[in-house]
Amino acid sequence: MMKITLVGLFGSLMIYLFATAPDALPDQTAATAGKCNFEVEALFDGVNAINDVARSIYTKRIVGAGGKVGLKFGEDWQEPGVEKGPLPALFLRLTAARLEAKPPRLGLYLGSDAPINKSNLFSDAQLVSFEQVKASRAPVFLTSAKGSHIGMYPDVAGVAPCVDCHNDHVDSPKTDWKLGDVMGATTWTYPAATVSADDYVAVIEAMFESVAEAYQLYLDKAAGFADPVSQAENWPGSGVRVLPDKAMFMTEVRTQAAPVLIDALLPAGSEKKDEVSPCVF
Ligand code: HEC
Repeated sequence: MMKITLVGLFGSLMIYLFATAPDALPDQTAATAGKCNFEVEALFDGVNAINDVARSIYTKRIVGAGGKVGLKFGEDWQEPGVEKGPLPALFLRLTAARLEAKPPRLGLYLGSDAPINKSNLFSDAQLVSFEQVKASRAPVFLTSAKGSHIGMYPDVAGVAPCVDCHNDHVDSPKTDWKLGDVMGATTWTYPAATVSADDYVAVIEAMFESVAEAYQLYLDKAAGFADPVSQAENWPGSGVRVLPDKAMFMTEVRTQAAPVLIDALLPAGSEKKDEVSPCVF
């Protein structure tokens, strides 16, 4: 009787151990990688949306509206004694420099095949992909010889000042830009093909932070003008010579970028109906 009970107990234990015990976690990497992993293209879509929104707000509401109340912008804005702010392309360069100083190792670069500044000229290999961007007017993704992942997004002459300023610029090798031309490509680089949800959020935050730091550099400069530009919860225009403070500028950037970020993070059910969820449950 005792024997039968013991055999029965042993049998139950074996069934428990081999049939119903929870699976061990395969390894630590899988445990920390989480359930949601994104293709690097989705990350590029997110950061590119933030850059587009920030550049357009800066161009229209700061450079455009600010110009009407006496604020000036130029290439020499950082020189001591020069009372100007950065041109939109230089604002992007400032953002890129801040971004490259942060751990996520996201690279940002605005290149062209006919640049005003020769350091913005694409390399021969990049030019091949840029021709594709120009022809399709859509982003192109590739992997560099060194294994870096690259996303190139068309930079279109959307408003007349793009065309006028470039055509008139003494250093411009091309003087017949037209509205709607693809003038260059906003080029992103990232070292991995996939991005965990944690890294995705960290990179997006690093991008917002870099835009905020770039804008703060301009605010600091403007506060030191002979007639300092006051910072307020207000945009320049209607005769008012002010600059929105960093919080107000960034609230506008975050609000306008939010819809695209949600689509990039939660693609299933978004406009891109053929996309599947990046998460495994
Ligand atoms: C007031 C003049 C001005 C305006 C307006 C302007 N740009 Fe530029 N842009 C420049 C200058 C100057 C540079 C070079 C900056 C540098 O040193 O990197 C530049 C750089 C660029 C570049 C990188 C390649 C190059 O030419 O060096 C692209 C692409 C570009 N601009 C596109 C645009 C687009 C698109 C618009 C409109 C949304 C625009 N620009 C508006 C002056 C201007």
